[in-house]
Amino acid sequence: MSDPQHKPDTLKDDGHAFDGIQEYDNNLPRWWLWMFYLTIAWSIWYIPYYHGGGGKVGQAALRDDLAALAAERGKLSAGSALDEAGLRALTADSARLAAGKQLYAQNCLTCHGAEGLGGVGPNLRDRHWLIEPTMTGIVSVLEKGGRPGKGMASVAHLGTDNVRNLAVYVVALNRDGLKSNPAKPPAADEVEKPLDW
Ligand code: HEC
Repeated sequence: MSDPQHKPDTLKDDGHAFDGIQEYDNNLPRWWLWMFYLTIAWSIWYIPYYHGGGGKVGQAALRDDLAALAAERGKLSAGSALDEAGLRALTADSARLAAGKQLYAQNCLTCHGAEGLGGVGPNLRDRHWLIEPTMTGIVSVLEKGGRPGKGMASVAHLGTDNVRNLAVYVVALNRDGLKSNPAKPPAADEVEKPLDW
């Protein structure tokens, strides 16, 4: 292809040279220039979108993807059996979290406090647990209730999905920041075993 702008290679007038390399005074290739203009045009959209607008990268993008994945799994799993990994995936689902928060206010707040700091029931925001601090452990105490005579009744009647939503909220409460409650110190039979996943 002949380029109308193309001139035979000429050395720069001032003979600019560095380290034995001499600079030529040629036009940039057209294809190169167009790519350069294209990157400028691209940046007009890219910079505002990713540095000020709704564009998400890195951790934020990953969080969104995980939440979408959990929501999908949640839809598929409604009512079906889930292992620990499957239950843990639900904790990234903001719809379940919102549902759990509402259920907590209706069914749990009286004994565990508005902020989960305990009352009749144990503090849910400390490092001490009676149960295994896993999703299976939390779901199990909700389905079966606590030890006989201790006051924690089963809430299995709310349904598998709502029990899972409640467990998601309990985990979120604990992750929201550990808080000890001087009025409700860990009971002697609570074991220090922080939620570490
Ligand atoms: C009538 C009071 C009461 C209500 C209502 C109640 N709980 Fe409890 N909860 C307790 C008591 C008491 C325990 C300790 C049980 C035991 O000692 O076996 C407990 C234990 C727990 C535990 C285990 C805590 C640990 O440290 O291992 C979790 C989790 C829990 N409750 C969540 C809930 C949720 C979620 C709800 C609402 C659906 C709820 N509870 C409703 C009194 C209550």
